[in-house]
Amino acid sequence: MTKLHAGTALAHDLSATTQPLDAIDALIAQQRPGFALTRPFYTAPDIFTRDMERVFRRHWHCLTHESAVPNAGDFELFKLGDEQIILTRGADGNLHALLNVCRHRGAEVCTRQKGNAKAFVCPYHAWTYGNDGALRAARLMPKEFDRSLYGLKQVKLRMSAGLVFVSFADTPLDFDPVDRALQASCGQYGWGNAKIAHRETYAIDANWKLAVENYVECYHCGPAHPEYSQTHALEQPLHMIEELNQSMEARTCALGIEVGSGDRWQTSENGQEAIHVFRYALYEGVRTGSQDGSPVAPLMGRFTDYDGGVTSVHLGGTSFLVCYPDHGMVYRFIPKTADSCEMELLWLVKGDAVEGRDYDLECLTWLWRVTTDEDKKIIEHTSRGVRSHFYEPGPIAPMEQNELRYINWYLAELARP
Ligand code: FES
Ligand SMILES: [Fe+2]
Repeated sequence: MTKLHAGTALAHDLSATTQPLDAIDALIAQQRPGFALTRPFYTAPDIFTRDMERVFRRHWHCLTHESAVPNAGDFELFKLGDEQIILTRGADGNLHALLNVCRHRGAEVCTRQKGNAKAFVCPYHAWTYGNDGALRAARLMPKEFDRSLYGLKQVKLRMSAGLVFVSFADTPLDFDPVDRALQASCGQYGWGNAKIAHRETYAIDANWKLAVENYVECYHCGPAHPEYSQTHALEQPLHMIEELNQSMEARTCALGIEVGSGDRWQTSENGQEAIHVFRYALYEGVRTGSQDGSPVAPLMGRFTDYDGGVTSVHLGGTSFLVCYPDHGMVYRFIPKTADSCEMELLWLVKGDAVEGRDYDLECLTWLWRVTTDEDKKIIEHTSRGVRSHFYEPGPIAPMEQNELRYINWYLAELARP
């Protein structure tokens, strides 16, 4: 009965809008509650287009950690969907998220991936922009041409706990509650003073939602991730690791740190960005996410010892964070086409840690490289499977509660005009 009601409620919400139901709305309304998404959500180009409009361009995305551009003049180019953002640090130290589209006739003005530059000279007709985006020179233009009207467009940028977030929306979702939640979680782990130790991009032959859905559930951890499952208790149902979680919270508390226990989940209703912060234990004696649970880098932030726990953050539709006391992980999901996407992983360590002296890159990155290689394979297996006309969504398991939450959030966003 509950399931039927949930479906009816979704259909009702849609019919309450003044727009007639289109084919995508009809598919959303037909979604069987508690079941996986149907085939078109992973294959149809028009649904991908709507994903981009209503999920991708509406929500905040983690671009990187600010240590990617540490000095005045540093820049890096990021590709997100069809868009390119030049992240720059201006002379005053402030960050800017500039769109890489010349205001003359649209050429890419930045053609290098990374570097240091006071200005970007468009390769087409040489309009010249400062690294704050202002148009500084436009050769042979009439005297009355007003350069101040033709600076590079910028997307909204927010920083929190050292992370850089961007939104393409004219009126972005409220980021303040997210900022507070990030300060209370990643902030305690010293992410504000961290640095990027390593990054790795994985090209995935699958719709971006298959990659995200795989990330948010750990029902697959036991069968698919033997290495991860040796150290992380999340491979088990939550009710079976309650005791481990309680011991972890007691240790965190004894360190004088308040990361906040339990599930804290905020949806995107009421114009706020969605965020979900939760904690889970490592197995007894395991201190961090590494091959054998041994420390891999100097302790960070307020942590003076290991608490045997992990803090996990799911933010908006594409940004996922994992905090260990000695390192952090940022998982970015980047949609490309209806059936391809990218995952980028960033490994964060204490800002003054030195490779070779304080951490070994191989040891630091081993666990999540192995785990992500496995994930890439299973996501692509799933992608090929759901392209079959015989694919029929099956029931979501109780252990996949975060997957169900993600699907419901996604469908609500897709239905919201
Ligand atoms: S398109 Fe950039 S200067 Fe003409
Ligand atoms: Fe996985």
